[in-house]
Amino acid sequence: MKLNTIASALALTTSLSISSFAIAGQDQHSYANLEQVVTTHIHLDLDINFDEKSLEGFVEHSLSWQDKKSKQIVLDTRDLEIDKIMYKAQDGSWHKASYKLAKRDDVKGSKLTINLKRQADKIRVYYNSLPIASGLQWLTPEQTASKTQPFMYSQSQAIHARSWIPIQDTPAMRVTYSARIQTPEDIRAVMSADNSDVKIKDGDYRFNMPQAISPYLIAIGAGNLEYKEMSHQTAIYAEPTILDASIAEFSDTQAMIDKTNLMYGEYAWGRYDLLMLPPSFPFGGMENPRLSFITPTVVAGDKSLVSLIAHELAHSWSGNLVTNATWEDLWLNEGFTSYVENRIMEEVFGKDRAIMEQSLEVARLKEQLKTIDAPDTILNLKLNGRDPDDAFSSVPYIKGQLFLLYLEQKFGRDKFDVFVKEYFDSYAFKSLNTAEFVKYLNDNLISKYPGIVSAEKVNEWIYKTGLPADAPNPTSDVFKVVDSNLQAWLKGATNLNSLGTDKWTVHEWLHFINNLPRDIAIDKMKQLDSAFKLTQTTNAEIAFAWFMLAVGNGYQEIYPALDKHLTGIGRRKLIVPLYKTLVKHDKKEWANKVYLNARPGYHPLAQGTIDTLFK
Ligand code: BES
Ligand code: ZN
Repeated sequence: MKLNTIASALALTTSLSISSFAIAGQDQHSYANLEQVVTTHIHLDLDINFDEKSLEGFVEHSLSWQDKKSKQIVLDTRDLEIDKIMYKAQDGSWHKASYKLAKRDDVKGSKLTINLKRQADKIRVYYNSLPIASGLQWLTPEQTASKTQPFMYSQSQAIHARSWIPIQDTPAMRVTYSARIQTPEDIRAVMSADNSDVKIKDGDYRFNMPQAISPYLIAIGAGNLEYKEMSHQTAIYAEPTILDASIAEFSDTQAMIDKTNLMYGEYAWGRYDLLMLPPSFPFGGMENPRLSFITPTVVAGDKSLVSLIAHELAHSWSGNLVTNATWEDLWLNEGFTSYVENRIMEEVFGKDRAIMEQSLEVARLKEQLKTIDAPDTILNLKLNGRDPDDAFSSVPYIKGQLFLLYLEQKFGRDKFDVFVKEYFDSYAFKSLNTAEFVKYLNDNLISKYPGIVSAEKVNEWIYKTGLPADAPNPTSDVFKVVDSNLQAWLKGATNLNSLGTDKWTVHEWLHFINNLPRDIAIDKMKQLDSAFKLTQTTNAEIAFAWFMLAVGNGYQEIYPALDKHLTGIGRRKLIVPLYKTLVKHDKKEWANKVYLNARPGYHPLAQGTIDTLFK
């Protein structure tokens, strides 16, 4: 063996042992020295400074030392300015601690190493965040719906909490937290916590989160927020201009909670409120405990996109209660949540709608599987040091959901429901990785009812690429009717009037558009558009599907509307594929022009994703 081959073989073994460390529960995305010390409670005392686009103040960590000899605490940070670090001595007095902030790693940020003279129960880090914080978005009044006050909010999943709090930023650990947040007087702040102190808008707010949560679930939002109750357990915080529309759209939230309680055990978090974010929010929703963050792009006026609420609510069991230990185990959060989401939709809106939604998602997954690198189609992801955002796809969501649906179909709903409920009970307020889950699954389902599903089958689902040949394939009878009408129209056997579109739901429209031939003739596009005004639709999902088709086959009429779509919203799922397809179809220049104009309104995460397309 040549020397350099030996060296690379050695490098390979080292990187292998690092990743097998990750499997043993160590998180490759965190510098925290959990084996020595863990934070049990965090107190935040922060000023929201809109002029500086900065959070300023301190965080106090209550510590539990795991190693009686250690005097070192390692925290995760990214782009933070550290002013000083204090520790509390036995006699209650505070003293300066020495620390070192390491050079910034592109993925993980800067390791903050704090050295104490002796073990202390509490430390305080005085710091401020920077305007470029990856986990915060700062909006000017003009960028909000009501145009009067600025707005800011956090998005901490997956590894962005460290850009606004120096913290052990790994889902393997949990903290309770409290906070005092100060804002300008006409601004209301809310957090993923008990929000009962924010009723009076006075610029000084206290929060308490008595249940232990992982750091990626610590969240804050502040702006011109009003508040309205929907039911005894639910309310909405939103800018006044969209409050009433949101209340009407999400009026089934309490019914969703009640149904889920019956299936999977009592909701553990007290209230379930929603925070409506500005259109630039890069996600559909984020399951921040007690207060899901929601994109306004799902306020369609007809409840057609409320499965998003079912999804974020479902995380109150899968994700917030039972949590993935590392980001390679994301499917434990998202696959279970997508499965539970669909069960909730079935309970509240019926089987037909639930299957249509499943079928649309599976079609999307199958499209994505054609373009994702094979290793990233494995449920138990291998991130190998990459940013978790870079491997984001439908795989953990929908392949995960299909795996659970497979088990449900094999064992029957009765047995499978008992299994899932007991799983949530057994791991409540705990984090686990995929290997631990596989063991639990084997002990409590696979070998409990032998001869139904083999261990090899489970391994294939979790550790192999692509979809197993016998994966469930949810088919909707409603969609079958759409399909045969669509074929008849394409062949010229019927006209548009006999498609039956006047009774179509948004889901039927989505299925119809997604199943039009990608090279459909322009005059057929024109016919559809003049009959159904698709270019002018106000439903963001329909607009997305229609624009994707139109860019691909060169239908020009959409461009003014597409410009408005891309500039008006920042939800990655609804814009990134459009930018990609524009670049692919010779519209790079046009897309770049739109992007330059739209970019300042996008969240740093969306900017990061789209920047790479135009480099
Ligand atoms: N927790 C996710 C969002 C997320 C995942 C942020 C991974 C960062 C890293 C949230 O619950 C989610 O899945 N949102 C989806 C909703 C959809 C599947 C209904 C979204 O934003 O599109
Ligand atoms: Zn989710």
